[in-house]
Amino acid sequence: MAQHSLSDRVAIISMGCTRFAEHFDRSADELAVDAVVEAMDGADLTRDDIDAFWLGTYVSGISGMALARPLRLVGKPVTRVENMCATGSEALRAAVYAVASGAVDVAMAVGVEKLKDTGYAGLISPKIQDDGTRVNTSAPANFSLLVPAYRERYGVAPEEFRAAMTHVAAKNHANGALNPRAQFRRAVSKEAIERSPAVAGELGVMDCSGVADGAAAAIVTRAEDAHKYTGTPLYIKALALVTGDGSGAADPRYDYTSFPEVVDCARQAYAQAGITDPRRELALAEVHDCFTPTEIILMEDLGFAERGHAWRDLLDGVYDRDGELPVNPDGGLKSFGHPVGASGLRMIYECWLQLRGQAGARQVATAHRGLALTQNLGGAPGDCVCFISVVGSRPT
Ligand code: COA
Repeated sequence: MAQHSLSDRVAIISMGCTRFAEHFDRSADELAVDAVVEAMDGADLTRDDIDAFWLGTYVSGISGMALARPLRLVGKPVTRVENMCATGSEALRAAVYAVASGAVDVAMAVGVEKLKDTGYAGLISPKIQDDGTRVNTSAPANFSLLVPAYRERYGVAPEEFRAAMTHVAAKNHANGALNPRAQFRRAVSKEAIERSPAVAGELGVMDCSGVADGAAAAIVTRAEDAHKYTGTPLYIKALALVTGDGSGAADPRYDYTSFPEVVDCARQAYAQAGITDPRRELALAEVHDCFTPTEIILMEDLGFAERGHAWRDLLDGVYDRDGELPVNPDGGLKSFGHPVGASGLRMIYECWLQLRGQAGARQVATAHRGLALTQNLGGAPGDCVCFISVVGSRPT
């Protein structure tokens, strides 16, 4: 497959992000406008300065008009994109490609979702394509299968794996407690995590990410123009997307201890960015911690840990905010909830703050490494979409 590197051709020049929360008093339109205005103000731009827009939303609007109407855009191309949990990142990917192709000078990616007033406690989903063999199980049920599978494959004692899952939740809630934009802003004790009500299999409420409303936005230009707008742009080093064929659930070789789509996607992203040792080269990673065991397995699929070792690394504090490679320093999906269309851009927003030294109490000591990774996983084990970006504070 041809892999043409985008490295350093496009830069992010400004971003915006609302608080992710139960926004009963704000519509999806208002949330999108809030994120867009913050991003435009940050670069001193108006709507007229932006040549094209991409809107990522999973269930909170259809067509580009879902953004053109609230922004009162006249005569502009606006496109809605959707790719499950990679939806917000898809908006960025499209905007970056438009600039890289030379078709436009300035493009905007917006992600928005409003989920808390759908009347459903979990994550609502449009009808998924089905050939009649799809098993209709919930997201917590699907991801709960990772727990016994991993323990059995690597011979990890139940109490040790439980401790690692608890560490993921405690770490991400502690990080989110320092983040004014997070939905849940309280540190949670290990006892409270382990005593939380059961949801599916061995997952309790505290092993699940929340459900939230929110929006985020990014403006991109050609890298050589970026300094017209900011002294500290972020350069796009890699954008990779792998869309699974959904065969995992029917494949007897699939054993629920890895996401093959993530492994493939990481390989492509690292090749684009020239990364050979992600654990030491990255300053931070924002990953899709939809459920606590997901984050454990992602550490291995992303090459941060050896197979069968991520649970131990977690307990050793390797991925803590002050660890060797901080993972989800903004609080992750666990603290932010998961307004699907906005989450990918929310992760990039944390990279934007961290790599520019603007993350305040959450600032990671590794920021000087200058590279950050974001990763989304949409779907279920064996049946998913994966997106990975690498952004950097310096051109190569
Ligand atoms: N983590 C931490 N706290 C949570 C939480 C979570 N996941 N979900 C809810 N809470 C807290 C709320 O803050 C609230 O606390 P309060 O009473 O102090 O205000 C309380 O629990 C009840 O909140 P509510 O919104 O009524 O919860 P709920 O019962 O509607 O939803 C779950 C709980 C677990 C069902 C829901 O969070 C869920 O489905 N999460 C998974 C989402 C998912 O499938 N994502 C897929 C990603 S691929």
